[in-house]
Amino acid sequence: MTTGTTQDRAKQAAGRRAAAELCHDGMTLGLGSGTTAHFFVRALAERVADGLDVVGVPTSQATGDLARSLGVRLTDLEAVSELDLTIDGADELDAQGDMIKGGGACLLWEKIISRASRRTVIVSDASKLVTTLGQFPLPIEVLPFGWTSTARLVTDLLRDAGYDICAPVRRPGSCGPLVTDSGNYLLDVRLGAIQDAATLAAELNQIPGVVENGLFINMADAVVVGHADGTTTIREPGDISGQDTNA
Ligand code: 5RP
Repeated sequence: MTTGTTQDRAKQAAGRRAAAELCHDGMTLGLGSGTTAHFFVRALAERVADGLDVVGVPTSQATGDLARSLGVRLTDLEAVSELDLTIDGADELDAQGDMIKGGGACLLWEKIISRASRRTVIVSDASKLVTTLGQFPLPIEVLPFGWTSTARLVTDLLRDAGYDICAPVRRPGSCGPLVTDSGNYLLDVRLGAIQDAATLAAELNQIPGVVENGLFINMADAVVVGHADGTTTIREPGDISGQDTNA
């Protein structure tokens, strides 16, 4: 597949390295969502065509459709309950490997599948590496029932926590509000800089109506970083620099 931009080239390099080096015969794999994870799925499908024997659990309907169309064997999380490895993308990643995810609206399945996996490896271009999480709007998945009330409680919690925020925005879809694969809405909230992401993640999930939030704390075991020149580096949490050292 040809790549359009240098960012695509970096994403593709990360996805291809993960497929080439981390996936082995007999593995049950969580298949992430978003453009970078889809580069991984395409590269994985090439290896499957060459005889690699793996089974995938997709983190979204879209990823399931892609993997199926490329001949990657799939199963349900209910059938396996535990996975060997999940490969997924991220919207922001800090030095500890904590993340904001959900830009592609798949955070709920992504979090469930990552938690069900013995290891989670993130594939990312270097532009996603940040010193402090929060520039990317934090997605929060909420039940449609009473969502305006849930949004008010989210606003109150964030203001009490010291964030100077506007009201959360319900994410639009192509016609009407975006509806996730689980039938929920997404609220996006711009926080600027998140100081204590673990506490915030736990507090948001205490609000009735909040299904899950896009803060992924302590979930990345390693990150494959793709660079604009097509090279990649693999980094461990604690050593995920905000700088693109290969630039
Ligand atoms: C989807 C996600 C994606 O992993 C995240 O949005 C990154 O996407 P991309 O690889 O297209 O930049 O969390 O919910």
